[in-house]
Amino acid sequence: MIILDGKKTSHDIKEEIAVEVNSIVSSGGKTPHLSAILVGSDGASETYVNAKVKACAKVGFQSTLIRLSEDVSEEDLLAEVKKINDNSDIDGLIVQLPLPKHINEMKVTEAIDPKKDVDGFHPSNIGRMALNLPTYLPATPAGILELLKRYDVETSGKHCVVIGRSHIVGSPMSILMSRNNIPGNCTVTLTHSRTQNLKGITKTADILIVALGKAEFVTSDMIKEGVCIIDVGITRVRSDKNKSGWKLLGDVNFEDVKEKCSFITPVPGGVGPMTIAMLLQNTLISTKK
Ligand code: GUN
Repeated sequence: MIILDGKKTSHDIKEEIAVEVNSIVSSGGKTPHLSAILVGSDGASETYVNAKVKACAKVGFQSTLIRLSEDVSEEDLLAEVKKINDNSDIDGLIVQLPLPKHINEMKVTEAIDPKKDVDGFHPSNIGRMALNLPTYLPATPAGILELLKRYDVETSGKHCVVIGRSHIVGSPMSILMSRNNIPGNCTVTLTHSRTQNLKGITKTADILIVALGKAEFVTSDMIKEGVCIIDVGITRVRSDKNKSGWKLLGDVNFEDVKEKCSFITPVPGGVGPMTIAMLLQNTLISTKK
C-alpha cells in the first residue's frame, strides 16, 4: 500500500510556486494578490481561511482578508464582491462557504468575476470544466487530480466510484474523472444518499473517492483488493490523546481498509493540504493572465 502524501506533495507545489513568484517579481512583474471574504466566525471556516492567508505569505503572495459580521446583508456582501471585482490589483477572490442561511450562496458565487474565481465555483467556470476548456478547477478536485498524477496512478479505463454529490467536491470530481484527460478516462459512477445497494457498487471500484462527511463510513467489506482510495472527509471529534483535545477523522476507516488498498490518502495529511496548494496555483494562473 502506498500513501498518497498530500502534505509532502503540497509542500513541493508551494515551493514550485514560490520559485515562480520570485522570478516574476524580480523581473518587474506583479505580485499575485488573493482576496478572501469570511462571513461570521464559524470555527472551521476561520481555520481554513487563516490557513489560506498564511499559505499566501509563504509563497510570496499578497493577501487581503475581509471579515464581515454574521448578520451582514446580502446586498452589502454583493457590494464587497463588486469592489474586489473592480480592483485591478486583486487577481483572485474567494468567498468562504458556507454562508449564513439568509444569504443566497449561488447569487454570491455568480457575482464573482469568473476571471477572478480562483475557487472555480462560478457556473461559467463549471461549464468550461465540463467541456474540457481551460479554466480554474475547483481546488479540492484539482488537488486530487494532482495527487493521482504525481503518484502515477493509472486511471484510464478504470471504474471510479464517487460517494457524495456536493457542488464543491463530488459533482466536479465525477466530471473530471470522466473527461478525456490524464488523469481521467474513467467509467464513473456518482453515488449519493438515494443510491441503492451502495456496497455492491463500491465493491466494484478501482478508484473510490469518498466525500460524504460521515466519519469512518467506508470499511473493508465495502471495497475490493487493490483499490485506490481518496478520502476527502474531515470530521473533528473529541480526543483525550491529542494536546488540542481534538482529532480529525476521514470518511474512511483507515486502519480497517489499509491492507486492501493499492493507494490511499491519509486524514489528516492527504487531500486537505492539496486544496490550498491548488488555490495558490489558480491565483498564480490568474496573475499571469
Ligand atoms: N468551504 C469548504 N471548502 C471550500 C472551498 O474550497 N472554497 C470556499 N470558498 N469555501 C469552502
